[in-house]
Amino acid sequence: MNAPVSAPKDRIVIFDTTLRDGEQSPGASMTLSEKLQVAEVLDEMGVDVIEAGFPIASNGDFEAVSEIAKRVKNATVCGLARASNNDIDRAGEAVKHAEKRRIHTFISTSPLHMKYKLQMEPETVYEKVIASVTRARQWTDDVEWSAEDGSRTEHDFLCRCVEAAIKAGATTINIPDTVGYAVPEEYAALFQMLLNRVPNADKAIFSTHCHDDLGLAVANSLAGISGGARQIECTINGLGERAGNAALEEVVMAIRTRADVLPFATGIKTPMLTRASKLVSNASAFPVQYNKAIVGQNAFAHESGIHQDGMLKNAQTYEIMRPDDVGVKSTSLVMGKHSGRHAFKEKLKDLGIELGDNALEDAFRRFKDLADKKKHVFDEDIEALVSDEMENAGERVKVMALTVIAGTAGPQMATITLDVDGTHVTMMSNGDGPVDATFNAIKKIIPHEATLRLYQVSAVTEGTDAQAEVFVRLEEGGKQVTGKAADTDTLVSSAKAYISALNKLYAKRDRANAREVAAV
Ligand code: KIV
Ligand code: ZN
Repeated sequence: MNAPVSAPKDRIVIFDTTLRDGEQSPGASMTLSEKLQVAEVLDEMGVDVIEAGFPIASNGDFEAVSEIAKRVKNATVCGLARASNNDIDRAGEAVKHAEKRRIHTFISTSPLHMKYKLQMEPETVYEKVIASVTRARQWTDDVEWSAEDGSRTEHDFLCRCVEAAIKAGATTINIPDTVGYAVPEEYAALFQMLLNRVPNADKAIFSTHCHDDLGLAVANSLAGISGGARQIECTINGLGERAGNAALEEVVMAIRTRADVLPFATGIKTPMLTRASKLVSNASAFPVQYNKAIVGQNAFAHESGIHQDGMLKNAQTYEIMRPDDVGVKSTSLVMGKHSGRHAFKEKLKDLGIELGDNALEDAFRRFKDLADKKKHVFDEDIEALVSDEMENAGERVKVMALTVIAGTAGPQMATITLDVDGTHVTMMSNGDGPVDATFNAIKKIIPHEATLRLYQVSAVTEGTDAQAEVFVRLEEGGKQVTGKAADTDTLVSSAKAYISALNKLYAKRDRANAREVAAV
């Protein structure tokens, strides 16, 4: 039978919910192949539990959880379910092929949520806790129960529900700070209270799940383990609903770096953190802020003269972690226009990137084009180029050509040729600046109502010939999609990023249409 995750006293179970709570955040949706790649890296990195999705939410979610369940080798694969038989059975079906599987079922327990969201009496919620955990246990021995909005739940009621969930067979009890309202001392005390008052508390592992609305998610998670929790739920880059979830890389490195005051251990291979961060940022098209702890571009950069001087004398003067502890390599000059296919393939291998034959050929062609335009091709350039390759594979619309007239004289004009389902279409437009003109020309070819919510440009490496990486977020009918592209020409990467986001909108519409047809 499937054995639940257990943890020795000081071992913290790392439960990653990038593919569920993270992917749930507006605009962060990932394709199936992106989800599979993320799951593979999480597994290799030593994550204990991968929450792969919410199987009842859509056929796409079900398929992703089910595929991940079949492929993951070491981690427990978990599916989320509300407290209903349909949800739980769908989650059970989705994870059933996993070597180690978990069902995570939840219901709100705070007075506010019970009254307004669920419109249920506390006694009905209490009954549902028992019924849902009992149902989930029919699928697996590893069942997690969550008290949604747990940090705002009355203590007596929380104790009753936790006791009932454990009695019904829950092996992990998660107390989420769903709205990011708790402060560290309070959250630590909540776990101490539960461990002291719930008679069967020793039969389960307690878990933190913190949102970052007040910027306290990581601090609260660490306080939670000081209070007795032994599982932390977190996401790569802190991706997640609203302000996000506790960032995996931050909790793991805090535990590792401050072992003197946090006497715990995780099973994470920390040199893989940077790779995981880049992969999730690319797959979700959510850029990582420059000064983000652990994985931000500036996290190990020392600009001020005083700091640089100190660093040269002894790195520990200003560095509490070594860059290679988290997988940061100093930028390396890699290849130029004379490098061949074999060297390119070896380079990809070094960077941990695997491509099929066709994708490799395409990537190599683009590398050659880039090497013609750019003097030095760095690892970061190759990573950006390949992530574009993966992001744009199989898309319906492609940018074929772009000419822009810009400058002080105005009006700025753009002429663009797009390949739409195999047909080339050219349009010209003016605009308030070259980017506006380019996007207007695209809109003439592909009319849409989407609003531009984010347009962000950053340089992949240093120098005026660096590739410009552009992130675009579009919103249409309450749905957000993101697109990303890199090119040495900022306007070309802008057009490609915009088209990449539009392709995702198309794909969403196609899926919605397919569902409507299927429902008839
Ligand atoms: O934030 C939350 O309460 C959740 C639950 C579903 C665990 O994500
Ligand atoms: Zn959450």
